[in-house]
Amino acid sequence: MEHQKLTEFPQDFLWGSASAAYQVEGAWQEDGKGESVWDRFVRIPGKTFKGTNGDLAVDHYHRFKEDIALMKEQGLKAYRFSVAWTRIFPNGRGEINQAGLAFYEELIDELIENGIEPMLTLYHWDLPQALQDEYAGWESRQIIEDFTNYAETLFNAFRGKVHYWISLNEQNIFTSLGYLLAAHPPGVTDPKRMYQVNHIANLANAAVINKFHELGMPGKIGPSFAYTPNYPINSDPKNILAAENAEDLMAHYWMDVYMWGKYPIAAMKFLEERGWAPEMVEGDAELLESAKPDFLGINYYQTATNAFNPLDGVGAGKMNTTGKKGSSEETGVPGMYKKVDNPFVERTNWDWEIDPEGLRIALRRITSRYRMPVLITENGLGEYDELTEDKKIHDEYRIAYLSSHVKAIKEAISDGAEVLGYCTWSYTDLLSWLNGYQKRYGFVYVDQDETQAGSLDRYKKDSYYWYQQVIKENGSTI
Ligand code: BG6
Repeated sequence: MEHQKLTEFPQDFLWGSASAAYQVEGAWQEDGKGESVWDRFVRIPGKTFKGTNGDLAVDHYHRFKEDIALMKEQGLKAYRFSVAWTRIFPNGRGEINQAGLAFYEELIDELIENGIEPMLTLYHWDLPQALQDEYAGWESRQIIEDFTNYAETLFNAFRGKVHYWISLNEQNIFTSLGYLLAAHPPGVTDPKRMYQVNHIANLANAAVINKFHELGMPGKIGPSFAYTPNYPINSDPKNILAAENAEDLMAHYWMDVYMWGKYPIAAMKFLEERGWAPEMVEGDAELLESAKPDFLGINYYQTATNAFNPLDGVGAGKMNTTGKKGSSEETGVPGMYKKVDNPFVERTNWDWEIDPEGLRIALRRITSRYRMPVLITENGLGEYDELTEDKKIHDEYRIAYLSSHVKAIKEAISDGAEVLGYCTWSYTDLLSWLNGYQKRYGFVYVDQDETQAGSLDRYKKDSYYWYQQVIKENGSTI
């Protein structure tokens, strides 16, 4: 749709930026923090790029005041961060570690004092190792109670201070990479277990959302879904069906459950045929259908283009975690779809397709299918950055990426989408789970290399000033 004039961003639009505990905090053993599955996983040789880990990360734990001062100077309206479960409950449950709670209280107070809206993610993948050891973490229904108890502790602690809550970050990624590709903890390759884990995570998500509403919490809660909209490679009906298959299995399979409490029909048939469908027991369907999120969070980075894939066709392939362009392998789900290159878009050095229009399409699809407000909880460009001798970072490629995506949001708003805010990924540079520290996302450059050598000094990139201007003008010149 071409508009004669685009609708302006709402006055209270939340111009934000995001991070996650494991990727920024460091201080992995301080003040009573327990071990998480990531603290353990990164120590297995070959799992992360050059063995990088988050032991120190970008030391946000000790430098959060400096980071928040930079946010304030930039004019940031919202900051999305996650709480490390193991700081609150070192063993996942039991006694509260007051020092852990105090850290987040200080962080939240500092944000509020500086006029920045805190957005709190309850779970960004750093499960307590103790729960993994005790009952295999997400494989046991016991986690529903433990996750709800942890969430309730935070609801009570930060009631009235935090108004935006994200339940699970990218459930589709942590279940698939953890249980299908063995790329995340616990390093398993078993579709049956993956879909069962995912079902339990759905129940935990629903229970926490219900708890939030039962407690009459002021504010809003929703999950953050990593949405990669699917296209067909061309108008061959076989390829169109492949794209439909991908959208059903890779997107509706999560979003329909969040929004309607129901699994999509075709995807479920596919899983049943292979013996991979999750086990539903009495009460599951009711719980899933009863939970109503207040918004859908989406993390948008790219789209996927699909083609027909026969039953004996291509399966999982290697991801590019090295930054060597073109090194990712072909992937697909036999009998459903395979991913192919979209000839109309550019790619990053990590082979992620750059497609701002795809964000507009994502917002349009969600608006039509679910009629739900959207909070964009992540969007950004992971690239190499260079610190010049005079301590500048000329990241015009990031400005181009972000500004085209902001424009796409404005177009989607003009199309009728309700968008609450936009969080870029990420605020400072940080640990990119499998890709080390060389894949940078921040507005703020952090001086350190893969061996964690460096001063950890912060430097403002050109994109920092660009976003400052966007916020000041409330996106009016985009
Ligand atoms: C999302 C995650 O998957 O994308 C972030 O929520 C992550 O934690 C981001 O860092 C970018 O992915 P990557 O693999 O480039 O770090």
